[in-house]
Amino acid sequence: MTINRESIKAKLFGESVIRGMTRLCREYDGVNLSQGFPDFPAPGLIKESACKAVMADVNQYAITWGSASLRTAIVAKMRSFYDMEIDSETEITVTCGATEAMISALLAVVNPGDEVIIFAPFYENYGPDAIICDAVPRYVQLRAPDWNFDRAELEAAFTEKTRAIIVNTPHNPTGKVFSQAELEIISELCCRHDVLAITDEIYEHILYDEVRHLPLATLPGMAERTITINGISKTYSVTGWRIGYCLAAPEITSGIRKIHDFLTVGAPAPLQEAAAQMMACGNDYYLDLAKFYRVKRDFLLKILTDVGFRCHVPQGAYYIMADFQALSDLGDLEFAHYLVKEKGVASVPGSSFLPPGEPESGQVRFCFCKTDETLQAAAQRLQAL
Ligand SMILES: Cc1ncc(COP(=O)(O)O)c(C=O)c1O
Repeated sequence: MTINRESIKAKLFGESVIRGMTRLCREYDGVNLSQGFPDFPAPGLIKESACKAVMADVNQYAITWGSASLRTAIVAKMRSFYDMEIDSETEITVTCGATEAMISALLAVVNPGDEVIIFAPFYENYGPDAIICDAVPRYVQLRAPDWNFDRAELEAAFTEKTRAIIVNTPHNPTGKVFSQAELEIISELCCRHDVLAITDEIYEHILYDEVRHLPLATLPGMAERTITINGISKTYSVTGWRIGYCLAAPEITSGIRKIHDFLTVGAPAPLQEAAAQMMACGNDYYLDLAKFYRVKRDFLLKILTDVGFRCHVPQGAYYIMADFQALSDLGDLEFAHYLVKEKGVASVPGSSFLPPGEPESGQVRFCFCKTDETLQAAAQRLQAL
């Protein structure tokens, strides 16, 4: 007899489909285009800085809300890129990845029964995050192929119960970058309804085709009501290091810091020092990163399109949502399983980015943050479709 020891809350969500696809990929010796982690080395500067910090015995707990050096580096970076003035003493919390930043932020500001607006499709974690903090998710659709939202639908989602809206731009899984006009609609609604915005800007530097990233917090009236979440995982190709951060007004930050302290105490101390060093790199690093991914995006787009997928060209991040309905009648989960088991390429079924109970998406997500060799191996296997 199996004893069920899971809490009611834990029963409300399953394991991550994305991380599950990585495990399946290993089992079938596939090429992993499912989980968004680079399979190439991180920049030398960040690795050397981490080694130096370890050798200098930066081994003990950092200050709970982040080492002074990293907070100072974040302030300088936000000023240089967005002209934002952040107070390092009262407005920053360094966390264990953007993942912990998001759950700490939600736990700090949301009461049970509050509604949180989430654009769908959405990064898988937001669903369980809402459940963990007893929030009620209100989904607003981003519509393929352009992934635009309907203004009236968004307006209708704001009710007297709305506490916060999550805005992820550049967006996983669609590659959408919210335009200034769209962000203005969101900010106008937040101000009108006294709603907080929690932004996930982890792909801020991975942008294509002259598209610009605009932090929602820079719009009029938004600085005091926005929690800006970011991290080093994607920008510096170190997803395993687990360093992220939240920027918010002092009265919001004080709550986030308490939750963060009792959840994790703090993020890895020597890696915070390395992140601080890396953030001082020049603008060329970020321009090169975007160029580097643009070539990979175009390569994978061509392969997928030639094989028969229909793809929307991503403006940012490192994913392609690909419609496979011209290739197969299978559901998206079955298609993703078929692709990894029979063809040896791992993707993520589109429905894992949709609210529970949504109809089949007819799409799978591929990521292209991989070496040219990996992408070429995937291309060879996909050509056999
Ligand atoms: C939109 C988004 N936010 C957050 C994360 C995770 O960030 P971190 O590694 O900093 O926890 C991911 C990872 O794929 C992501 O796509």
